[in-house]
Amino acid sequence: MNGETVRVPLGERSYDILVESGLLGRGGDVLKDLLVRPFLPIVTDERVAVLHLPALQAALRASGIESKAIVLPSGEATKSIGFLEQLLDELISAKVERRDLILALGGGVIGDLTGFAAAVLRRGVPFVQLPTTLLAQVDSAVGGKTAINSKHGKNLVGVFNQPRRVLADVATLDTLPRRHLLAGYAEVVKYGLLGDAPFFAWLEANGERLIDGDHAARIQAVVHSCRMKAAIVARDEREDGDRALLNLGHTFGHALEAETGYSDRLLHGESVAIGCVLAFALSARLGLCSAADTERVARHFSTLGLPVSPAGYATDAKVLLEHMRQDKKVIGGTLTFILARGIGNAFVTREVAERDVLLTLDAALSA
Ligand code: NAD
Ligand code: GLY
Repeated sequence: MNGETVRVPLGERSYDILVESGLLGRGGDVLKDLLVRPFLPIVTDERVAVLHLPALQAALRASGIESKAIVLPSGEATKSIGFLEQLLDELISAKVERRDLILALGGGVIGDLTGFAAAVLRRGVPFVQLPTTLLAQVDSAVGGKTAINSKHGKNLVGVFNQPRRVLADVATLDTLPRRHLLAGYAEVVKYGLLGDAPFFAWLEANGERLIDGDHAARIQAVVHSCRMKAAIVARDEREDGDRALLNLGHTFGHALEAETGYSDRLLHGESVAIGCVLAFALSARLGLCSAADTERVARHFSTLGLPVSPAGYATDAKVLLEHMRQDKKVIGGTLTFILARGIGNAFVTREVAERDVLLTLDAALSA
């Protein structure tokens, strides 16, 4: 498979996700139709700037496009009000106009921050995403959620702002450390678990090859994940219903991230892997799916080296439940859970007794 395009159908805000190996080297070709003048500001982080910025700038130059790079520190702390202010100042100093395009080159941190900055700069400047982590290619660069963190929690200040195009170049993943690749892979598995059992089976057979660097397998997985996300976002852009399915594993996962201080001790995708196993364990406790399903999910994650147990990251189920109460899906004090009637058959529910959540967590913490 050489590459494919996935459409996100959102009326006048529709856009394409181009998935290919080597796309970054064609940056000028695939972006020039979106430019009103041959100028492109690029927002990136320090690590990605060293690895991928020179090739992108060369490709733009080859198409006669001048670029201006704004390089921010790598890491979650950059998704903050301080760096938002710095980024806006630098974009204004660079005289970025309302009809210019801004490009986000990096992982979810750069994509989320840049999307938010683009939404508020001059009341809205269009932006494109060139995601360089697997997590960003299959999730954060698609669907228009943008945000920064608050001292009260992650992603609490943000807006929906759809990009004009997404350029997912799987070759950029060749430089990504294995731990981050695996963390993004957990989000890929999430799609199989929430709505596509054959895709999960495909991942069981091909996941290792994908992680080890096979571009064709990566393209196939990114295309499939983006297709699933595009379909969900198209029917529920602002998460009034079905979009919450994309949060499979996230209610438990966010609690673990909060407990570990949103630090490198537990990456977001790692918390999603543990969270998916817990969501299946809770579903099994409620008689919705079999214990064998939970074991199959855990086996796939752990075979590849992802964590599957909250033990080691938390000790107290009640403390985790308290963290869950800060979840954005809490409505009227009631938690929302994504449960499963089997692999590939998830649903959203608010009818889960806290006692069952606590029992599930206690069992996992003491296993
Ligand atoms: P990240 O952006 O911090 O990137 C992870 C690390 O990899 C960073 O150190 C970065 O410098 C480095 N990196 C990026 N690309 C690289 C490459 N090709 N080679 C080598 N190193 C590279 O983290 P992430 O996992 O991409 O994203 C996590 C963020 O995404 C979180 O803030 C999370 O809240 C957000 N997120 C948003 C959505 C959404 O829908 N908007 C969905 C999921 C996650
Ligand atoms: N990452 C979840 C969403 O985009 O809704």
